[in-house]
Amino acid sequence: MSNSKNLIDTEQRLGAHNYKPLDVVLTRGEGVYVWDTDGKQYLDCLSAYSAVNQGHCHPKILAAMVEQAGKLTLTSRAFRNDQLAHLYEELAALTGSHKILPMNSGAEAVETAIKAVRKWGYEVKGVPEGKAEIIVCADNFHGRTLSIISFSTDPDARTGFGPYTPGFRTIPFGDADAFAASINENTVAALIEPIQGEAGVIIPPSGYFKRVRELCTENKVTLILDEIQTGLGRTGKLLAEEHEGIEADVTLIGKALSGGFYPVSAVLSNSEVLGVLKPGQHGSTFGGNPLACAVARAALKVLTEEGMIENAEKMGNYFLEGLRSIRSNIVKDVRGRGLMMAVELVPEAGGARQYCYTLKDRGLLAKDTHENTIRLAPPLVITKSQVDWAVEQIEKTLA
Ligand SMILES: Cc1ncc(COP(=O)(O)O)c(C=O)c1O
Repeated sequence: MSNSKNLIDTEQRLGAHNYKPLDVVLTRGEGVYVWDTDGKQYLDCLSAYSAVNQGHCHPKILAAMVEQAGKLTLTSRAFRNDQLAHLYEELAALTGSHKILPMNSGAEAVETAIKAVRKWGYEVKGVPEGKAEIIVCADNFHGRTLSIISFSTDPDARTGFGPYTPGFRTIPFGDADAFAASINENTVAALIEPIQGEAGVIIPPSGYFKRVRELCTENKVTLILDEIQTGLGRTGKLLAEEHEGIEADVTLIGKALSGGFYPVSAVLSNSEVLGVLKPGQHGSTFGGNPLACAVARAALKVLTEEGMIENAEKMGNYFLEGLRSIRSNIVKDVRGRGLMMAVELVPEAGGARQYCYTLKDRGLLAKDTHENTIRLAPPLVITKSQVDWAVEQIEKTLA
């Protein structure tokens, strides 16, 4: 029995089966490539759900992590550390935020925003206690905690986990009229993904977010954009909101904030919303720790200084062009923005997963989502010849 077979069997026997991974056991990564335990090389077109935008094991992030790990890793927020202020400063300069709250996972950033906007609603907007409503979109994905799955419309994510957290109003994604109609005097916020990633890279109609922004401003509703997947260069801009020509009141980032080294997330906001949180009202032992801050600082630095965002735009356009040139009667749609792309297959194709296995055999790792869609999101350091190679494998697989 090969080593990878042993490892898979052990995982299956001892681990909870809350994931259904492709059976490839990875042991090493560098740039856009990963290698399995048999030494086979793959081009990674998932990037750990866009957490590895900077490429696997980026040497400068690694160096920052190792250096900081040898100095100081965790103080808790009971004391201050000499990295957090620098991360605040650098994030504020990059994004124009006035207040920042560091957390660990993406879901924690979402939970933090929900708490903050509810409190803001009661204390600033004057919503009666316990009545705050947050508008969310159908087919959203914001994480896996109880409050978050309470407003999921995916039965797999939600069913069986009640009782659910109340206070959310669900409307269709991309429908500005439905958005307008859902606002009432108790609406404190809208929580939206700029592009719905897990739903299959769903891009809203142009002008949608402009109207949403106007409606939020007119009705004193906090616009929260979940950029945990779309942010930090993935779509060819630092934040996907830039494509829409708008600015959110609260922006959530995570994943690539550490380049995949370590869970780091953050809530970026204006002063009014995060200003409502007082000592003792929110926190996390690991949030804002010096190791996380040092890693995040390096991750942001290489993202901006090494031209990764510009490359995402250029290579994204080139990749999409290549995908659109594929002649196959099982392709229903090709869509994307920057290096956040999807190929949707016709239902008769029999599901995207089998094609992901064929791609794996050809040395390309991608993940199926929502039955018929193959999602493609390589690290932002991908080159033209690597895109050419990837398109060739996808073409041969779908032909
Ligand atoms: C848009 C979005 N929000 C939130 C999350 C949750 O992040 P995490 O898995 O780090 O909790 C994800 C993860 O895929 C995501 O894509």
